Amino acid sequence: MDVGRHPLITLLAYSEIEDISGYIGNFHIKVRKKARYVNEVECTSCDECVDICPIVVPKEHQLGLASRKAIYIPFPQAVPAAYLIDIDACLGFNPIACGKCLEKCDKKCIDFDDQDKTIEFDVGSIIVATGMDVYDPTEFDEYGYTRFENVITSMEFEILSGPGGVTTGEVIRPTDRKVPKSIGFIQCVGSRCESRGSPYCSNICCMNTIKDTLLLKEYYHDIDCKVFYIDIRAFGKGFEDFYRRSKALGVEYIRGIPGDVIEDPDTKNLILTVENTTNGGIQKYELDMVILSVGLVPRYDASTIQRLLTLSTTSDGFLMEVHPKLTPIDAPTSGVFFAGCCEAPKDIKDSVTQASGAAARALTILSQEKVKIQALTATVDEDLCKFCGICADVCPYGAITVDIKAKIPAKVIEAACKGCGTCAAECRFDAIHMKHFNDDQFIAQIDAILEDNPEEKIIVFACNWCSYPGADLVGISRMQYPISPRIIRIMCTGRLSEKFILHALKLGAPIVLMSGCHPSDCHYIDAQQWAQLRIEKLWNKLERMGIRPERVQLEWISASEVGKFVKTMNELDELRKHVTKEEIEETKKILSKAKK
Ligand code: FES
Repeated sequence: MDVGRHPLITLLAYSEIEDISGYIGNFHIKVRKKARYVNEVECTSCDECVDICPIVVPKEHQLGLASRKAIYIPFPQAVPAAYLIDIDACLGFNPIACGKCLEKCDKKCIDFDDQDKTIEFDVGSIIVATGMDVYDPTEFDEYGYTRFENVITSMEFEILSGPGGVTTGEVIRPTDRKVPKSIGFIQCVGSRCESRGSPYCSNICCMNTIKDTLLLKEYYHDIDCKVFYIDIRAFGKGFEDFYRRSKALGVEYIRGIPGDVIEDPDTKNLILTVENTTNGGIQKYELDMVILSVGLVPRYDASTIQRLLTLSTTSDGFLMEVHPKLTPIDAPTSGVFFAGCCEAPKDIKDSVTQASGAAARALTILSQEKVKIQALTATVDEDLCKFCGICADVCPYGAITVDIKAKIPAKVIEAACKGCGTCAAECRFDAIHMKHFNDDQFIAQIDAILEDNPEEKIIVFACNWCSYPGADLVGISRMQYPISPRIIRIMCTGRLSEKFILHALKLGAPIVLMSGCHPSDCHYIDAQQWAQLRIEKLWNKLERMGIRPERVQLEWISASEVGKFVKTMNELDELRKHVTKEEIEETKKILSKAKK
């Protein structure tokens, strides 16, 4: 409500972002404001239209226990507190068959001619706070979620026990609408599970259940609460105390996840069978209600935001920050920040902390006349550009424009460029140069390394963010590996052009390694995928040329994988020993004859 009333904040509720273009300091946003069919400014929420509306439909997320009219306010705390018409349910639209609300509204707020509107505006920075969805436990059929009415999810319990819910806070069991005498909570439904749901911990479920048990015990002293868990994760300020209080109030915590839930058809009671892993016994419990503590999953439309803002996601589907420790709020696209569960499951406190950080980070941009950017950007030699548009296609940030039809050379928006070098590596005409990581510098490094005894050297191109610090950590950890690998730092594997690899082979390098971040960990969104494709093409090309593709290796090594780094170097050194002088000489000949 504070946000809704704030004079400097424009709140666009019931709207969807259609397009985002531009870059840090100059984003252009296109929003579709959906038709409400009610004038939200004039509407006083008098409720008379609702009273007269003849259409009744089930209210969303109310366990089928409540209904609403076709004209309604989505939830009690909605801002603006204005009605909207569910046009699919309403009778009064095209042709008007009802129109009762229209007649009843003295302020003439109903407008059946209302249309979706497109609003466009510019902003300097963007905070993504799109939240998450809750896991649908239908696939855990053994718990009977869709078969037994008295099995509900933790989110549904939240609605049921909340003061704004259909029972105004009274906890009743759906089948007989009586206060249950016993409730069981099953933890980790859809979380920490490799085969179904998600492999990660959803962070909030343990504390949410503990909170629910405390509320239940406070209002229904005699209620029997049982919690079935793998382990209780009560880290955080005051959380362990919460857990102890819950146990002190008589909540029973049973270490073990039920194998199944069956229903007694007469009493509608639920019987849970569980292996208690504390004592190894198989136990059965009869309970009035079961609450499935469901995990959090990325929002169903996360991929839309990802596409609009050229972001990347983790393997879990949550939006990925630039660096989990150093820049946990920043998106890979400059000027974009994250707040809340769009980035990972988190509780209210962490979401508020991150949101405050995101607001502060956004202000650092808005408060300056100019922004500082990395000096590692790409530049285009317009004389060499042939307007093919490949650079624009592969740029993970959409930072390159090129007009193929009008033959206007590629242009780099420096404020949006992050310097991954994918464009330079893909350009077939050498028209793109990377500042501070240019081709001549790489060639000079390769030349210097292979000047003497090239057959004893392995050229390792290591990504700045993973493998290079991984090599550093090996050194800091005093771990040993052979002396043959010589490391050349690249910002991202996306920068590694095939010409550097071929140059190294031509100068006699027995083995060349490209090493970078694990898939989906690339710091430049999808730059690494282009690198992988390029290497795969190169392997085919080498094979056709008569050069063993095994001499060009690819390995993903993260900054912490010191063991993997050492193992890889040892293996490569063994491989190197099997590349004979004759083979190296033959390769040199083949590559000298080959066309550029
Ligand atoms: Fe490491 Fe792209 S940043 S591979």
